[in-house]
Amino acid sequence: MTYVIAQPCIDVKDKACIDECPVDCIYEGPRMLYIHPDECVDCGACEPVCPTESIFYEEDLPEQWSAFGAAGAEVFTELGAPGGATTTGPLAQDHPVVAGVTPAGSRT
Ligand code: F3S
Ligand code: F3S
Repeated sequence: MTYVIAQPCIDVKDKACIDECPVDCIYEGPRMLYIHPDECVDCGACEPVCPTESIFYEEDLPEQWSAFGAAGAEVFTELGAPGGATTTGPLAQDHPVVAGVTPAGSRT
């Protein structure tokens, strides 16, 4: 189990969560941030500081955002576990589940 960031983070990216993570395991993508499931130590420090309430313990993910559990793991398939978001830098792409979400305010 790990903590997972879900849909409300998309196009918001407040980043308050990053400052709380003791192991630097929250990685930035173009539209949202992702918690590395193998690097997260399940401390829970990030969850209460997110203003959009995007962060959940994986087991507690709301049903409508259940796809974000797998997406948060799959987005690291190529990268592996580099051991730190700051030194790695941003991810080049979002997971397709995230990239496919229609931006808020869009009519399409
Ligand atoms: Fe996103 Fe919330 Fe972090 S909006 S960047 S999960 S503080
Ligand atoms: Fe980091 Fe703890 Fe959250 S390890 S991602 S602050 S649960």
